[in-house]
Amino acid sequence: MIRGIIVKQLTKAARLRGPGNVAGVLRAAAALAPQITIKHNYSSKAQPKLTSELYPSVKRNPNYKKLANEDIQFFQSILTENEILQANDKEDLAFYNEDWMRKYRGQSKIVLKPKSVEKISQILKYCNEQKIAVVPQGGNTGLVGGSVPVFDEVVLSVSNLNEIRNFDPVSGILKCDAGVILENADNFLAEHGYIFPLDLGAKGSCHVGGVVACNAGGLRLLRYGSLHGSVLGLEVVLPNGDILNSMHSLRKDNTGYDLKQLFIGSEGTIGIITGVSILTPPRPKAFNVSFLAVNSYEDVQKVFVKAKKELLEILSAFEFMDDKSQQLTKHHLAGVPHPFEESYPFYILIETSGSNKDHDDEKLEKFLESAMEDGLVVDGVVAQDETELRNLWQWRELIPESSQCQGGVYKYDVSLPLKHLYSLVEAANARLSEAALLGDAPKPVIQAVGYGHVGDGNLHLNVAVREYNKQVEKALEPFVYEFVSSKNGSISAEHGLGFQKKNYIGYTKNPQEIKMIKDLKTHFDPNGILNPYKYI
Ligand code: FAD
Ligand code: MLT
Ligand code: ZN
Repeated sequence: MIRGIIVKQLTKAARLRGPGNVAGVLRAAAALAPQITIKHNYSSKAQPKLTSELYPSVKRNPNYKKLANEDIQFFQSILTENEILQANDKEDLAFYNEDWMRKYRGQSKIVLKPKSVEKISQILKYCNEQKIAVVPQGGNTGLVGGSVPVFDEVVLSVSNLNEIRNFDPVSGILKCDAGVILENADNFLAEHGYIFPLDLGAKGSCHVGGVVACNAGGLRLLRYGSLHGSVLGLEVVLPNGDILNSMHSLRKDNTGYDLKQLFIGSEGTIGIITGVSILTPPRPKAFNVSFLAVNSYEDVQKVFVKAKKELLEILSAFEFMDDKSQQLTKHHLAGVPHPFEESYPFYILIETSGSNKDHDDEKLEKFLESAMEDGLVVDGVVAQDETELRNLWQWRELIPESSQCQGGVYKYDVSLPLKHLYSLVEAANARLSEAALLGDAPKPVIQAVGYGHVGDGNLHLNVAVREYNKQVEKALEPFVYEFVSSKNGSISAEHGLGFQKKNYIGYTKNPQEIKMIKDLKTHFDPNGILNPYKYI
């Protein structure tokens, strides 16, 4: 058992720093709450405003055909009754028209949920010929307004394509339909001793195809790398209905352009991903999670460097959170005890995973002991079992929901050089305070909080608001993007461009790059039917 040893050793470590400094003793993460699940809050809130009303400068493209009876008859000719949802007196298709943040609301009157790749192909061929705009949709957990229509686009959900196709236990290569829910894919792999090489808070709803379409990063990119590395092949239905079969399972293949890469992160703009072939690593046998308190962002960076060097191959996640993010989460989880009674300026969640528990425990103990001796870590808890481990993770994974649930959230997901990572949160707070937008009601902003994947140089700045408010948006955009650009960062580290950042890509990509992206879009989708008003 790690618990006794750690408490003993770190009590010693704390004493080394001076008598009476018992707050520094690393404790076991006892008496934590049961697991909390991340959910959609659709029923609890007033309906969001229509995107077209909130952003009146975006006009419906008149080249797109408005859906007519003959189009519906065509869909009915190839789909069964339960593959088509139509808006009527009782059904407004809210689940498909509204995004997870409840920031964007489209006006689609029809959702198609085909059960086969061939049907998707027939639908796209028809829509392309008729110039009917289509929004590909997975689990609808995207965070940039890319997954929902802006006007009356047809929603094409891949949720009915949800079969595991094949798994090779020797190579670890999984082939599955795009609509398989990420958590289901991971549970399937767990039975075979493997793990999906991506994990994120929305795993219970998002799809394998959706995460590939977004090139999602998630909580363990530090260990498993980007999907650009682990995805080996894709099956994609192109806007003209052609089915691109590129479901390869080779780790090495240097014959021609690597076509699948174009679709990874293309956010539904050049094709609908219907199948994914992905290399999965063996599932670690031992996991440890520790939740640590530190006094400054400087110390977060020092602990990161130390963790990389000393935990080395067993380090699988390194996440940081500021105190304000934890205040929001405490408010959301009213009554659930936080790992620490006191507040500290910053928190770090470190996950280790490996094949030998004793070895990992020993490494982690040594690391924590020395981090406390150095005075970098001022308090900490270590999970003692699976439940505690999950509960420690919840204080990190529930920040998105906690930021959104009091009315809304403006989200910025940026890559920055590590030394500048937190300065964006400070700059945003200063700007919102100067503009008198931040504070108690009736001021619109509740908190501007920072957290993220330090290991990947990825900061999440969440500005929690009482309701969506144009003044707040104007204070933040393009201010945030200018800040990021001035530090040579990226305005999207992992959530993508979607509707939110369509007009801001120039802060990260140069004109030549933007032209090439536009040319590719036109090449694949000359009629622009796929996911219009987004991305580029
Ligand atoms: P959707 O939201 O339905 O769609 C997202 C985009 O992809 C849209 O543009 C859509 O048109 C397109 N798309 C979807 N499916 C397909 C398809 N089959 N073919 C072509 N295009 C398609 N992201 C991270 O990177 N890291 C995180 O840690 C992370 N954590 C999250 C935590 C929470 C609580 C939430 C709500 C979101 C989080 N995200 C994170 C955002 C992330 O982008 C999504 O969760 C996920 O990648 C989207 O998958 P989805 O199936 O829900 O896709
Ligand atoms: C996260 O890291 O929690 C995700 O990217 C989602 C978010 O920031 O909202
Ligand atoms: Zn993230």
